[in-house]
Amino acid sequence: MVYDVLFDKVLTRMDPEDAHHRAFEAIRLAAPATRRALPAPRDPRTVMGVEFPNAFGLAAGFDKNARAVPGLLALGFGHVEVGTVTARPQPGNLRPRLHRLVADRAIVNRMGFNNEGAAVVAGRLHRLRRTPVGEGAVIGVNIGKTKVVPADQAVADYVESTRLLAPYASYLVVNVSSPNTPGLRDLQAVETLRPLLTSVRDTADRMTRAHVPLLVKIAPDLADDDVDAVAALALEVGLDGIIATNTTIERPATLRTDRPTVDRAGAGGLSGPVLAGRATEVLGRLRAGVGDRLALVGVGGVTTPQDVRDRLAAGADLVQGYTGFAYEGPLWPRRLAAATL
Ligand code: FNR
Repeated sequence: MVYDVLFDKVLTRMDPEDAHHRAFEAIRLAAPATRRALPAPRDPRTVMGVEFPNAFGLAAGFDKNARAVPGLLALGFGHVEVGTVTARPQPGNLRPRLHRLVADRAIVNRMGFNNEGAAVVAGRLHRLRRTPVGEGAVIGVNIGKTKVVPADQAVADYVESTRLLAPYASYLVVNVSSPNTPGLRDLQAVETLRPLLTSVRDTADRMTRAHVPLLVKIAPDLADDDVDAVAALALEVGLDGIIATNTTIERPATLRTDRPTVDRAGAGGLSGPVLAGRATEVLGRLRAGVGDRLALVGVGGVTTPQDVRDRLAAGADLVQGYTGFAYEGPLWPRRLAAATL
């Protein structure tokens, strides 16, 4: 209720990225108080050999630099996926690069992997892992390609991030599905993806004694055949799981927002409830294809506790969300994390 008023009267009148930064700082600074007030919902499950306190986590992109993990976990998320982190620091695209389609409770973003780079984030995670909260936290680390690195050196770039970050990751995600780095999604083609995943897997194994689970995150815009091909490849190279899905570059006819407003938002990835249909379809297709040989993380348009249960029923072992958090506010993670209780 309070958040609804705050959202309508304040946040929607602010630039969306400024609103994001304000909310982010509040979450970060409130961590100790939030933790004292409310224990996180517990419905633990072991997935990929990792114990997750509950099925619901924060999708990548919100905490790109791993600055607010304790505050986010205190809100009830069972896990936080940090990143996307790139090997080198980079500023991302020019602002404005984040737009709300309020009538759809959707977001269009073309952030472009603005982040502090793998070395800085690794240092931060190193310190976090030495704290009582950070030690046992489930923190996924999502890695992507540095924009200025040419496609033929992409593997080395991901390998560098892996080398620095794998030691601190509860699981690692190779992101080849964000629409805002030119050429990135082409890495989803099996022949380019195979050497990439193999090299990341080998590097992670060299850097850590324990097995760090490795997943690939895919786009909802892949054709069904390509989804099947990625699933087959994931099995072939011994991946632990697949995250389905990232944002879409489509602008579905089902959008309620008027066309000029959609067009003004410009290029980028669309997220929110309009994505739920295709994201669930991809998830179901993957589950049918891989059986119980891979873990699947369902993400895209998850907004209500029923959405969490539906995504689990469609084959997900874990569920994530991002856009719902921006629209529903700080009590939302706890509500969704309690969906299976
Ligand atoms: C994202 N997402 C994202 N994904 C990723 O793998 N790396 C990233 O850096 C980002 N960045 C990012 C920024 C913003 C502003 C948004 C809204 C989203 C995608 C996100 O993790 C998720 O896959 C999609 O947003 C779909 O889920 P929701 O938002 O519909 O719950």
